[in-house]
Amino acid sequence: MRALVWHGKEDIRCDTVTDPQIEDARDAIVRVTSCAICGSDLHLFHNFIPAMLPGDVMGHEMMGEVVEVGTAAKAALKVGERIVIPFTIICGECEQCRRGNFSVCERTNRNKAIADKVFGHGTAGLFGYTHLTGGYPGGQAEYIRVPFADRTHIKVPNALSDDQALFLGDILPTGWQAAINCDIEPSDIVAVWGCGPVGQMCIRCAILLGAAQVIAIDCLPERLSMAEAGGAVPIDFKTESVIERLAELTGGKGPDKCIDATGLEAHVSITHPDSILDRGKQMMMLESDRAHVLREMIYVCRPAGVLSIPGVYSGLVDKMPMGMLMNKGLTVRTGQTHVNRWSDDLLRRIEEGQIDPSFVITHTVGLEDGPEMYRVFRDKQDSCIKVVLKP
Ligand SMILES: NC(=O)c1ccc[n+]([C@@H]2O[C@H](COP(=O)([O-])OP(=O)(O)OC[C@H]3O[C@@H](n4cnc5c(N)ncnc54)[C@H](O)[C@@H]3O)[C@@H](O)[C@H]2O)c1
Ligand SMILES: [Zn+2]
Ligand SMILES: [Zn+2]
Repeated sequence: MRALVWHGKEDIRCDTVTDPQIEDARDAIVRVTSCAICGSDLHLFHNFIPAMLPGDVMGHEMMGEVVEVGTAAKAALKVGERIVIPFTIICGECEQCRRGNFSVCERTNRNKAIADKVFGHGTAGLFGYTHLTGGYPGGQAEYIRVPFADRTHIKVPNALSDDQALFLGDILPTGWQAAINCDIEPSDIVAVWGCGPVGQMCIRCAILLGAAQVIAIDCLPERLSMAEAGGAVPIDFKTESVIERLAELTGGKGPDKCIDATGLEAHVSITHPDSILDRGKQMMMLESDRAHVLREMIYVCRPAGVLSIPGVYSGLVDKMPMGMLMNKGLTVRTGQTHVNRWSDDLLRRIEEGQIDPSFVITHTVGLEDGPEMYRVFRDKQDSCIKVVLKP
């Protein structure tokens, strides 16, 4: 089959690889009808997250048609059914799965022993996301093997198109969880850093959950316009002072809740001197992540507020203002998304027309164009916001 394969830093190719097969009785094989490139894939593209190996198949946002089911998954899944595959592989039985903490499932990461050493405790298995999360081949491919398929799926009603359903596997629940983690109250002003696909979902979810006002921060006009169309007040960090504008918009109080939808690759610019220091340290391998957004959120957040961090961080960050965080009494919430915790509710909201996540798609191409689209998405060429691939 054809698949997008990681060969090294900034080197993704569309290769012919071995077709996946049932390896365990709980597996299923899915013919991928749609998949997407995620901001998290860019961190792998830039080799900022350790433990990718040449030959690894990329992709963790995908859906398709079930074509084969292992004996132990047959009661839950039938050939011909249409499913979204959550990016977190879940067993559904361990203590964390029973609590709904699916992204830290205790059984699905087949490299858990190594991950335990690196993180203290390993996380769930993830598709296409390094050998620290199990080294499972991803879904930017014609077919994918879904381990623990009896639990690792979201069934999609035929009335919904692929474009409406696809993001149930990653960015929609990620935006939702980030907003839920803010404990939004009707008087709350929520500020969102980053208006990529995840930020766009955060904005819409915060509004759905009743925020009084949402403020969106980025530097790309097309992303800020999309945020504005979704109901947010935009701030362009290249032409305005984020700190001054947030003070103005909140009557000097600061946003009650702050969402980091940027992650470890915060923009490097002369107006953000700490980002230059981070970049230098990154190049000398003294620090792995650029944490400008985290520092800015801690500085501007209203005392007793919440910092919700869906943005991905990989390792170590320096110059964290812990004194500010502690004395202002801020709450920090973060994590890979517990996708299936939110699926039923979000599927219903899509069916009822409360939200149609397909608004974020700007590019739809074939799998062969995938390698080129990684660059287009990374460089924000052609006003690219979200790429969907049809294998
Ligand atoms: N927690 C999860 O489960 C989960 C799931 C999906 C994605 N993510 C993460 O969410 C983050 C965003 O993903 P995406 O797909 O939207 O990626 P993206 O790269 O398209 O978006 C990031 C945006 O942040 C903006 N940005 C950079 N520096 C900024 C700054 N200083 N202030 C404000 N904005 C800034 C960029 O201009 C860009 O538009 C990534 O780190 C990704 O890995 C996490
Ligand atoms: Zn993702
Ligand atoms: Zn589990």
